[in-house]
Amino acid sequence: MTENLMDKVVSLCKRRGFIFQSSEIYGGLANTWDYGPYGVELKNNLKRAWWKSNVYERNDILGMDSAILMHPMTWEASGHVHNFFDLKSDCKNCKRRFKSADLKDKAHCPECSGELTESRPFNLMFKTHQGPVEDTSNIIYIRPETAQGMFVNFLNILDSRHPKLPFGLAQIGKSFRNEITPGNFTFRTREFEQMEIEYFVRPADADRALNEWIEYRFNWYLTLGMKSENLRKRQHGKDELAHYAHACMDVEYNFPFGWSELEGIANRADFDLKQHSQYSGKELQYFDDATKEKFFPYIIEPSGGVDRAVLAFLVDAYHEEKVRDDLRVVLKIHKDLAPTKVAVLPLLRNRPEITELANKISRDLKKSFVTVYDDTGSIGKLYRRQDEVGTLYCVTVDVQTLEDKQVTVRSRDTMLQERISVDRLKEYLAKQLN
Ligand code: GAP
Repeated sequence: MTENLMDKVVSLCKRRGFIFQSSEIYGGLANTWDYGPYGVELKNNLKRAWWKSNVYERNDILGMDSAILMHPMTWEASGHVHNFFDLKSDCKNCKRRFKSADLKDKAHCPECSGELTESRPFNLMFKTHQGPVEDTSNIIYIRPETAQGMFVNFLNILDSRHPKLPFGLAQIGKSFRNEITPGNFTFRTREFEQMEIEYFVRPADADRALNEWIEYRFNWYLTLGMKSENLRKRQHGKDELAHYAHACMDVEYNFPFGWSELEGIANRADFDLKQHSQYSGKELQYFDDATKEKFFPYIIEPSGGVDRAVLAFLVDAYHEEKVRDDLRVVLKIHKDLAPTKVAVLPLLRNRPEITELANKISRDLKKSFVTVYDDTGSIGKLYRRQDEVGTLYCVTVDVQTLEDKQVTVRSRDTMLQERISVDRLKEYLAKQLN
């Protein structure tokens, strides 16, 4: 199962409309993906759950949404222009490019055994020009992380909201990196979405805050139903740390291709505010009213990937079981993440009174839950389709409904069926879903 689990998930994603290859009709753009109708719901639910847990349920975090394009000095100050490199080697024969860290034999191409160039630094930022003139004075970078948008707004936040330490900023947004070796479906791509928190603390509190955030973020995945045996923490060695980090703990998921990073929780110390203060000439120190001290707060940064988390939840929820002689594929995904909560299925689509009533019921349910209506197959097929996309409840409308005003409600996880009166249906579903 694990061996081809990835293939099964990728195939389900395409077949059912979660994730498609980008620009597929033109042969596809390698390692770039589009989210289809179910994929976008899942992704939005995941982002909503993150926002709820990190912004709405806490008193110490404020939300933000900064621009993707930023003043080019930002990336000088942040160190990305000079330090955001991977070492790469090119094959002189087949012209393929490799990340040096991935090469066992640094001299020969792993594809064609051709001679490799010396490894050379390769900056991962996408560069373009702002405005109609393409010269060096107009160079602009497409952000490789959302974090900097929060650091450069530190002063605006202090002046407009007057938060007291410790406090944090949170944002979700697209980031771009010209990765040398993207791959593993949506795991490593050049365009991706991040969910980041920058949490400002007194330097003396940084170690404690780092540990608290590691636990808080680790548990978030568990509360959304991720299997604990598939989740672990891994401390970064000194040689792995990013140029700005004092310490970092990764939350890793046991993907079919191996344990890999879902999220990093780092202590960035006072690197960022000091750098931006120096490059901008603005005072970015925090003034503590109580002690009358001025200092650069330390920053604890939980930084996760939306696409990676979506992929991990899909892999984790994929489930196969034998039901009589059939194979049932079910996406046993947490109710808050499930793309669709309810499906309304008329049992006899050639009976207009039944489809009419089913339509009416679905229109009413749509006001309260994400609901789909489907009358395009036999009931067995319709159930299977809904199981595969993780729909929590199927409501079937049949001939009996016309008489007794009751529908059959079937649970995705137990497959148990209950007759519920149409009048009580909303209340019944609300109880299960909230
Ligand atoms: N601000 C810190 C920062 O960006 P990072 O470890 O480079 O740290 C944070 O990235 C998270 O962003 C990763 O844990 C991962 O989930 C996601 N991420 C990074 N690069 C990615 C890529 N090429 N494709 C998909 N997700 C990526």
